[in-house]
Amino acid sequence: MSNPMEVYSQAKEFLKEHATGLAFVFIAVGTGLIATRRWMAGGVCRSKARLDGKTVLITGANTGIGKETAVDLAGRGARVILACRDMGRANRAADEIRNRSGNGNVVVKQLDLESLQSVRALVADVKTSEDRLDILINNAGIMMCPKWQTVDGFEMQFGVNHLGHFLLTNSLLDLLKKSSPSRVVNVSSLAHEKGEIHFDDINLDRDYDPMKSYRQSKLANVLFSRELAKSLEGTGVTVYSLHPGVIRTELGRHLWPTIALWKRLLFNPLMLLIKSPWEGAQTTIYCAVDESLQNTSGLYYSDCGPKQAAPQACDDVAAKKLWDISASMVGLA
Ligand SMILES: NC(=O)c1ccc[n+]([C@@H]2O[C@H](COP(=O)([O-])OP(=O)(O)OC[C@H]3O[C@@H](n4cnc5c(N)ncnc54)[C@H](OP(=O)(O)O)[C@@H]3O)[C@@H](O)[C@H]2O)c1
Ligand SMILES: *[C@@H]1O[C@H](CO)[C@@H](O)[C@H](O)[C@H]1NC(C)=O
Ligand SMILES: *[C@@H]1O[C@H](CO)[C@@H](O)[C@H](O)[C@H]1NC(C)=O
Ligand SMILES: *[C@@H]1O[C@H](CO)[C@@H](O)[C@H](O)[C@H]1NC(C)=O
Repeated sequence: MSNPMEVYSQAKEFLKEHATGLAFVFIAVGTGLIATRRWMAGGVCRSKARLDGKTVLITGANTGIGKETAVDLAGRGARVILACRDMGRANRAADEIRNRSGNGNVVVKQLDLESLQSVRALVADVKTSEDRLDILINNAGIMMCPKWQTVDGFEMQFGVNHLGHFLLTNSLLDLLKKSSPSRVVNVSSLAHEKGEIHFDDINLDRDYDPMKSYRQSKLANVLFSRELAKSLEGTGVTVYSLHPGVIRTELGRHLWPTIALWKRLLFNPLMLLIKSPWEGAQTTIYCAVDESLQNTSGLYYSDCGPKQAAPQACDDVAAKKLWDISASMVGLA
């Protein structure tokens, strides 16, 4: 058994002998980590477009990438409406957004996307209190929750991520058209790529799986982008859907508790590599304001540039079918 002093002097000797090599490894690993982090950070929206006199509505803007998007757009001079379900959280976020953007024109309105009644009430409120709507950002989302149902009996993720936004968007189209050129931005996800619309079991009653449901709801977002863009051709309302990246937000709140502690600990260092909410908001901001997208509609974006969506997200027949089913589920003629 070697004593501690011996180990210490041997280690010292080793460091001396291999100083250059070790420094090299250290620098290489460091550079690699920084490069990886930069690469993970993705694109940045470089547009300086101002939004003075314009109105923006963002769903789920009290935290995560929605809140960061709100800070940016308020900073460009827009009137920003935060449509959120929890008024306490929303008011605290509004204070922070006013403070960080230096724009006091930030208002809070109640919207719970798991209730069609709440969507209708918000629409009525917006129609009476606002004379224009230039940018609608469908950002709110829920991921991989247990088998829950919305107030209206729909499967939760399909109901919140897709159906609630479907009714909201369709009900605000008149105001958007009146304010054109205007934009609809849908925050979807890479998760749509493995998604499938289960037309024979759309609420997944027979075979619920949290991941399968999240993927279906995010594929629905992209499919609708196409169908909506088609129906809005020539109106001056353009639509965009996007993958924001993998971001440190509260989105994992239902997923984390189901993962074993040791796995979570193993994942923890990786958390340093994934995007911050500010980085995650960049593609949403790009789709909302970038001048180069003015005459483009119905496409899918990632890292502040166009991206090819998965084949099943480019299926016009499925898009139409989903549109019709959704319209009847939310009671739209
Ligand atoms: N984070 C990622 O890595 C990632 C990756 C791909 C796509 N996305 C998408 O990005 C969007 C924003 O997510 P995030 O990462 O910022 O997540 P987040 O931090 O969990 O924020 C989600 C927001 O949606 C709101 N929301 C949830 N259910 C709602 C409901 N029934 N009615 C109204 N609002 C509701 C939440 O409100 P409460 O705070 O009141 O719950 C919250 O404001 C989502 O559409 C998500 O699918 C995120
Ligand atoms: C934001 O809040 C901080 C303290 O909470 C305060 O010092 C600062 O002046 C505020 N900034 C604005 C623009 O209101
Ligand atoms: C956004 O999603 C909603 C609901 O899924 C849909 O009605 C709308 O057409 C979509 N728009 C875009 C740009 O994806
Ligand atoms: C969009 O179209 C309008 C009218 O045709 C044109 O004036 C404008 O320059 C176009 N913008 C871009 C970015 O292509």
